[in-house]
Amino acid sequence: MNSGQNNSALVIGSSGGLGTAILMELVNDPSINRVVAVSRSRCPQELTNGGADGKVVWLQTEYNEPAMVEVAQSLAPYSGSFSRVCICHGVLHSDILKPEKRLEDLNEASLQSVFHSNAVIPGIWLKLLFPILKGNTNCIVVALSARVGSISDNNLGGWYAYRASKAALNMILKTAAIEYGRRAKNVKLIAFHPGTTDTDLSKPFQATVPTGKLFAPIFVAEQLAIIMDSAKMDGTLSFLDWNGQPIDW
Ligand SMILES: NC(=O)c1ccc[n+]([C@@H]2O[C@H](COP(=O)([O-])OP(=O)(O)OC[C@H]3O[C@@H](n4cnc5c(N)ncnc54)[C@H](OP(=O)(O)O)[C@@H]3O)[C@@H](O)[C@H]2O)c1
Repeated sequence: MNSGQNNSALVIGSSGGLGTAILMELVNDPSINRVVAVSRSRCPQELTNGGADGKVVWLQTEYNEPAMVEVAQSLAPYSGSFSRVCICHGVLHSDILKPEKRLEDLNEASLQSVFHSNAVIPGIWLKLLFPILKGNTNCIVVALSARVGSISDNNLGGWYAYRASKAALNMILKTAAIEYGRRAKNVKLIAFHPGTTDTDLSKPFQATVPTGKLFAPIFVAEQLAIIMDSAKMDGTLSFLDWNGQPIDW
């Protein structure tokens, strides 16, 4: 990791359950002196003026390409300083979205919406971040994926849009890792499965989670910090769970 005076981290989707925990884990890392948070939400009170350490830069945005281009322009002054990037946004359900239980539940608008949030937008971030990350600073880019995006692991069925969007995310990450590996060798990509974590996203599905298998966001953020610290700059995409174990595609 870059241990100099100009060591930055970027957290996209920083108001979510995992995004907030990962943001605070990075803020509390003494080797990082700037953490840029990108979110659809406004900066929380406690982080205005950079938070207690003055480290946080909060950028509020919509997730559409013109707005994201503006975010990239705001990041340009920090080019070459990022050692950590975590893309934490994602959607499983909402007031109008329910994970599908059977084929009859498939709906064109829901599929498009989930694909847009979970695969299209992270892909656009990878494009826009390329010139900002390419350089001499070793940089670990993590996108929050999910084990249910593994095709070989799908024994239960259901959740068509979410599963397929995460499988699509993984393929976008894999393809981008090949290109980053050729054109920006200082960047390593990781598709990360946090495990079932106690956030709004998992709330409706927590009843069936076995005891001890529902993680606190801070535990997952700490695990991810260890994984990022020990990642090898090998120019490939890794698909890893919260324990650092590889997941089959
Ligand atoms: N929690 C789990 O059990 C679990 C398990 C496996 C994978 N994951 C993955 O981990 C990531 C973080 O999830 P979480 O558990 O922290 O969920 P969360 O608390 O619901 O946070 C998700 C965040 O995603 C962004 N978001 C919400 N709706 C969106 C939309 N329609 N379009 C784009 N972005 C939207 C928001 O970030 P901003 O408002 O800050 O932009 C939101 O705060 C997701 O990618 C999820 O698929 C979670």
